[in-house]
Amino acid sequence: MNVVPHLGSGKVTVPDLLQRKSSPAGFPSKTQKITCLTAYDYPTARLMDEAGVDVILVGDSLGMVVLGHESTLPVTLEDMLHHTRAVRRGARRALVVADMPFGSYHADTAESLRNAVRFVKEGGAEAVKVEGGERRLELIARLTEAEIPVMGHVGLTPQSVNALGGYRVQGKTADAAERLLRDARAVEAAGAFAVVLEAVPRELAAQITRDLRIPTIGIGAGPDCDGQVLVLHDMLGLTFSPLPKFARRYANVGAIISSAVRKYCEDVRAGGFPSDAESYHAAQMPKEEKEAPVNTDGDW
Ligand code: KIV
Repeated sequence: MNVVPHLGSGKVTVPDLLQRKSSPAGFPSKTQKITCLTAYDYPTARLMDEAGVDVILVGDSLGMVVLGHESTLPVTLEDMLHHTRAVRRGARRALVVADMPFGSYHADTAESLRNAVRFVKEGGAEAVKVEGGERRLELIARLTEAEIPVMGHVGLTPQSVNALGGYRVQGKTADAAERLLRDARAVEAAGAFAVVLEAVPRELAAQITRDLRIPTIGIGAGPDCDGQVLVLHDMLGLTFSPLPKFARRYANVGAIISSAVRKYCEDVRAGGFPSDAESYHAAQMPKEEKEAPVNTDGDW
């Protein structure tokens, strides 16, 4: 498989994203906000790439919205590589970032580096994302030194769900806000090119965005971040639990799928599908081609 992204013709790159950092308050900002969505397969990656999204994140939210797990913790490196390869095939313009799953960067740095390299070499990812702030300083620095661009992720880090005791807004007290600011600064100091801020008060996200030189990508962090990310299945109405407060449903694809499947079942049961026009006819085939596979003459 060719994993080299198509450079040129509007291809989004890490340096482009760094240039999209908004200007400090008081200076007119000409930069456009960064758009990011998750994708886990070829068709959705292709559709969102063609629709102009800047960054496609192969998130480990895969575990919950596609694989049906209760958390992101069971997602494996092989799961993520499999889905990153599919997304890579669908994305030409957008930057593809692969989430490193729980356990793939928590042992020693050498093993973490080997795992990150697999995302680039085998998955075609152009960057990886890791959760955590100060405690990831050394890891982010090592990956960056190995030419692997890193997106950080602080605030609510879903892989820490057991340590945090649930999915909760982070940084609500003065102490917690100070820790979160330190985390974001550590991610930047270690060399990350962007940082996801998840489930933090708007005011704190705005402060971190002003403080950092790298773009902040918010999810549940208010409108003042340099960019926004949503889980695709949340915004398309393809999930089964109530949406978090911060997610906006742009379409109800779940309802469209249910209604199409119901209609198909009705048609098959009533003998309405397939119709004669949707059937092949032996009499139309020249005698000598009768044994040939049906698709050799373009008769689809
Ligand atoms: O896995 C994921 O989808 C994420 C986003 C919520 C940022 O990490």
